[in-house]
Amino acid sequence: MRSAILSLVGGASTVLAAARGFNYGSQGNTLETYEAQFRTAQGLDTTSGWGSARLYTMIQEGTANTVISAIPAAIATNTTLLLGLWASSPQDVFNNEITALKNAINQYGSAFSDLVVGISVGSEDLYRTSPTGILSNAGTGQSPDVLVNYIGQVKSAISGTVLGSKPVGHVDTWETYTNGSNSAVVAAADFIGLDEYPYYENTEQNSVSNAKNLFFSKYDAVAGVANGKPIWITETGWPTSGPTENLAVPSVDNAETYWKAVACELISRNIPTWWYILQDSASPSFGIVQSGEQPKYDLSCPSVATSSSAAPTSSVASATMPTSAAVSTTLDISNAVPSASYAASGVTSKAAVSSAASSVASVAPSVSSAVSAASSAAGSVIASVAPSSAAGTTVMPVTTKAATSVADDGETVTIYSTTLITVTNCGSTVSDCTSTGMSTAVSAKPSVTSAAASSVVPSGGAVASGCPADINGAYQYPHLIIPVDSANPNKAYGTQYNGTVNSKVSTIFNFDIPASYAGKTCSTVFLFPQLDQLETSSYSFNDKGGFTIAVLNGVADQSTTYANAPAVAKQIGSVDSLQRGSSHTLSQDACPAGARVSFEVTSTNGLDLEWFNDYNPSPLGLYVRAC
Ligand SMILES: *[C@@H]1O[C@H](CO)[C@@H](O)[C@H](O)[C@H]1NC(C)=O
Ligand SMILES: *[C@@H]1O[C@H](CO)[C@@H](O)[C@H](O)[C@H]1NC(C)=O
Ligand SMILES: *[C@@H]1O[C@H](CO)[C@@H](O)[C@H](O)[C@H]1NC(C)=O
Repeated sequence: MRSAILSLVGGASTVLAAARGFNYGSQGNTLETYEAQFRTAQGLDTTSGWGSARLYTMIQEGTANTVISAIPAAIATNTTLLLGLWASSPQDVFNNEITALKNAINQYGSAFSDLVVGISVGSEDLYRTSPTGILSNAGTGQSPDVLVNYIGQVKSAISGTVLGSKPVGHVDTWETYTNGSNSAVVAAADFIGLDEYPYYENTEQNSVSNAKNLFFSKYDAVAGVANGKPIWITETGWPTSGPTENLAVPSVDNAETYWKAVACELISRNIPTWWYILQDSASPSFGIVQSGEQPKYDLSCPSVATSSSAAPTSSVASATMPTSAAVSTTLDISNAVPSASYAASGVTSKAAVSSAASSVASVAPSVSSAVSAASSAAGSVIASVAPSSAAGTTVMPVTTKAATSVADDGETVTIYSTTLITVTNCGSTVSDCTSTGMSTAVSAKPSVTSAAASSVVPSGGAVASGCPADINGAYQYPHLIIPVDSANPNKAYGTQYNGTVNSKVSTIFNFDIPASYAGKTCSTVFLFPQLDQLETSSYSFNDKGGFTIAVLNGVADQSTTYANAPAVAKQIGSVDSLQRGSSHTLSQDACPAGARVSFEVTSTNGLDLEWFNDYNPSPLGLYVRAC
């Protein structure tokens, strides 16, 4: 019965799906060929929603650091992007990737950034330096240390730009993530890009019939070391031709079997996925289309309407979205690719996110999470009626419509409006439900203003003790750092890498709190190591005084000056006498999830401090820590 209800609801509205697309190499591709492939991917027979592209490099083939033509092609075709910077190269070569990234920002601005889902620094670099990679002559790789450093460089390069809020991660194979020697990469990454090929697991039971088990057992192994970071499937596929690898036999039939087992499951679980590959002329050949642009095999997933044999259910009070194929069609909505970003949306919509969003990291939204999201927005309205069951009547909340979505910190965030549906004496098929009727009882709409009011002003007072004064867990670094100068009240300094706090200058820090922090505790921490503990950063300090930190009642931007800065809403913390080699939890409260918050740091008692706010070892400066 549940399937039937979802089927009907799904037909009337949409649920937002995670980004989904294909990998696109750089060799031999031009603006025209990228555009043609992106359109092919969007128009595939028997499936839909594959409008995202994962790239391996920012550089157009054959140039030093010209922006890859996939970007204008993506803009022309409304294709979302998982960007990649090739990282198995020394610094001077990697610099070209960064230059191309910056050029893309400058050339294409928000038309570009609106499409970006995330940025991967590297691709299988750790695998290529592992014993297996070396055995397979996989090529030059990269050490975890350098990757962590490059990830930091990319975060610095995008800081304060239109890409400032995009997650920066890494792509590699499952066994590199479970290898503890690489844990610093996991720690530095905002998302875990996972390449998984049961076909190549030739020391395992890798027949196509066992491929799904193999795939998800490795996935679960990575999830076990991911520290809660979202896992995105960045490559997987099964070849239609090529050599047999142990029990894995390439064929069109087996590729279709693998697709229906793995692709359909990933769709069903709403896990961001970039399949390997749309088309190729290689051996083994993984391409799902050949010339003529039609799929080599059926790409459809089992639909809800045909699963009417699902057993009738009398109550759905504790139902979570099943991962069975029955639900996949509901999530398989082609026009539901994340498009909004914090950078592009205004304060108001961010507040809306905090009130209504249920963060969906690599899992299908559950009915219960929709309920809790809705009840946090609408309070007792939903809570008092959901979900109940009486005398052959079931009232269930169903997530029917996603108002917007945000890919931030690697998580696909969906705003649900929840509808209560009353079903009476519903049988096991769609037609049974239809004939007995169903009605939409309530639509829970989040209230923007109440969310803003409650989320933006953390309570002040006593210094907290809950979150540790470090960033060895979920944390945020500032996306905008704006000095305001009482001696130059009308000067907008724009965003800086440095915080400056002295008798004339205060600095405002903007933090974008991910919606996934909903329900967590957030603290503001100020980390102030000894100078000799710093590797990539520095500070200058006159060893006098302290500072206060206040939350502002508005959000600063590049044009903020001393004169027009948002007023202080509330002082939330202070350090009376700052000492070198100290760490401070300045404030602590419920995370203002989904909101952008501005904090102002102001000198007291003659403090004169300038620091490079940098999370590289040892972290220095102001962060928001979640716990
Ligand atoms: C584990 O990772 C380290 C660092 O990347 C690498 O040198 C080592 O070979 C890896 N070990 C295995 C068994 O893959
Ligand atoms: C681009 O795609 C998104 C998501 O599918 C859609 O909401 C948006 O309207 C599209 N924009 C254009 C210009 O087609
Ligand atoms: C940032 O502050 C550090 C420490 O005072 C200083 O060495 C560095 O030059 C500053 N950077 C900029 C761009 O002002």
